[in-house]
Amino acid sequence: MPELASTLPASWYCSLPLYQLERRAVFIKSWYLLGPVTKFQNVGEKFEYEIAQQPVLAFRTSGDSPLPEPGEFQVICSKTEKPLRHHITPTGLIFTTLSDEAPSFHEYFPDLEPLLQKVDFTRLPYRRSIKYEGRFNWKTMIDGYQECLHCQYTHPSFSVYYPPTFYTVHNHQNFSQHIADPKKPDDGIFLYFFPNCVLNVYGGGMSSFRVCPTEDPNVTRMEFDYYHIEFGEKFEEYFKFVRQVAMEDYELCEKAQYNLGKGVYSEGILNPEKENGVSFYQARVFELVCQQHAADQSHYSINQTDIVMEAVIFSAAPTLLALLAGIGFLYRFGLQLLDAKKSETIPELAEDDSCGVLKESNFPAGWWGSKEVFELERRALFSKAWLCLSHRSRFTKAGDYQSYEVAGFPIFLILGKDGKVKAFHNVCRHRAYTVTKKQDGSSTVLGCRYHGWSYNTYGELTKAPHFDELPGFDRSQNGLFDIHTVTDAAGLVFVNLEASPTVSWVDTGLLDSFLRKSKLNPQSIWIAGQTVVANFNWKMALGSKNLIDSSELENTIRQKRSISWQTTGAFNLFQMKSEHFSVFPFTSFHSIGRTGWWWALSFLPASEQKTALRCDLYCSTDGSSRSQEVADKLFVLLKERVRKLETEYQEYVSVGNIEKEKEILDCLEDHIRLEKSQGTEVFPAMRKPRESPRFRQAEQLCKELHCKSQLKHLAW
Ligand code: FES
Repeated sequence: MPELASTLPASWYCSLPLYQLERRAVFIKSWYLLGPVTKFQNVGEKFEYEIAQQPVLAFRTSGDSPLPEPGEFQVICSKTEKPLRHHITPTGLIFTTLSDEAPSFHEYFPDLEPLLQKVDFTRLPYRRSIKYEGRFNWKTMIDGYQECLHCQYTHPSFSVYYPPTFYTVHNHQNFSQHIADPKKPDDGIFLYFFPNCVLNVYGGGMSSFRVCPTEDPNVTRMEFDYYHIEFGEKFEEYFKFVRQVAMEDYELCEKAQYNLGKGVYSEGILNPEKENGVSFYQARVFELVCQQHAADQSHYSINQTDIVMEAVIFSAAPTLLALLAGIGFLYRFGLQLLDAKKSETIPELAEDDSCGVLKESNFPAGWWGSKEVFELERRALFSKAWLCLSHRSRFTKAGDYQSYEVAGFPIFLILGKDGKVKAFHNVCRHRAYTVTKKQDGSSTVLGCRYHGWSYNTYGELTKAPHFDELPGFDRSQNGLFDIHTVTDAAGLVFVNLEASPTVSWVDTGLLDSFLRKSKLNPQSIWIAGQTVVANFNWKMALGSKNLIDSSELENTIRQKRSISWQTTGAFNLFQMKSEHFSVFPFTSFHSIGRTGWWWALSFLPASEQKTALRCDLYCSTDGSSRSQEVADKLFVLLKERVRKLETEYQEYVSVGNIEKEKEILDCLEDHIRLEKSQGTEVFPAMRKPRESPRFRQAEQLCKELHCKSQLKHLAW
């Protein structure tokens, strides 16, 4: 069975050291499209560019002929004022390169100029430029441009002009030509220039864009230039159309990038025919990066490498320093944690262990809000612990689903046709787009909007347009990543993200007896829920199990409705004790007297300094005619308490729970030991890749660069 090509590993889209290597391997020796000559028709008007953090200025120095004569155009590095080589094609496109070591334009693009002959670029006036940043890697955007498999799902307006059925991509040396409709060869030119420039000529206008990497591999600056024969209304109509297509791509890229960086998805399959443009440029990136890496390793020692980089245009000294500093980080961080334990400097518990603990206490610095600790918690705790997320009563018919974001893991719960609630990572197996986009909904078919893959309520891939007929494609190997899910006797739904095939269930004896006593059962009816996003670390949950005092809720409701409630006997029920129970790490349950109402509160970690508090009210009796009133009051109290808790967090005083914090610390220490023993970060929720030889080599290279663990720890 032929093996289908897979994408570059997800780590290549998120790693800073890898990007630093790409700068030298891919960007320094390439040629870049600056635009047609019409952009530079005013002598002396300078246009700024930034190519892989290298500032460049391009301008016409003299002359007024449509095509600048030799000496009438200049490109310089604005840092050094060093002139850079450029090339003007016979029909008026201007390209430049950063390095003297780059091949000549014709060596780089041997068969490009004949193709450009069919457009006279000297006749398309420059109209407008725009630029903005997007939260995605430069390759995430190029992936999208290099295929039109997604056009019918994402660009309905574009597909009307160019039906994706005929769309093909022809790869040449260092560029790709997209043929939108072979029957209309003169209608439109769509070109991709390796590595990051694009030119589209259609609909009477032309746009070019550059996908510019920034210092953060997760952020890219998009720079667009627009040209059109017409101005005014005609141009605006064209502009509106092309902007719509651009924004549709932007949304795809942000969502896919988000999922690539979460430590679950590692690679996807590429269609050899419909995604050949993606395979082509990714293979080129891989080849150049491997070559550069091998050259670095064989020719220079670590101490010499920064000198080597100065020899080319970029100085990579910061990279090396960061790399070296980073090597010691995990070790130091481990010691830091271990020292905190060894020295037993954790404060004695006060008589009431639930309040008045200074936020930083004697736990490692950043305990209450650093990105590094949060990332470690994601790997060490949230990828391994059972997390209570919902209740069975929230799912009534097959296909009912709820989406969650737990510590940056996008997941969803769905009721299967077999009546069981199951959980899945909300990441399409193809190229990592999000499957369920609404917070909740109902559908027995879950379609991915990027390229139309569909999954059923069991997470099985049921439709993969243009893949189904491919030899070697196995639908059963491309279902959604399922998550261990347990619905307990009371109807509470727990998930565990650990990727291993089996995970042992925990002893829930104490919880069960609380649930029985408080009449929390599977027959409970969900009344309402609300999410409040708060500016504090999720660990505020540990000391806030009684965030909302149920007696406060009781009193308020009793005062308002005392007459009618006394008549029905509800008043007496309120006299019985409200109780609560916390489930590690972030959920608590609260009964309101013995009224039958109960509520669940989860502190869902969103980031190191943000938490989404999810509160749901249920009723286990049929006294629900007053339920909405109870819910309204509950949510008002929730918001009030959250704002108060935010203030406490800002004032550096938290309601702590040392015992629970110690439990977390132990968990992090164990995981650090594991990572130290393996010499790399360990992501327990990461799914096993298909392991092609290229994937293994690419992952290995990234590990050698310590790509996942080094630089992001520098701020520690
Ligand atoms: S990402 Fe391609 S179908 Fe989902």
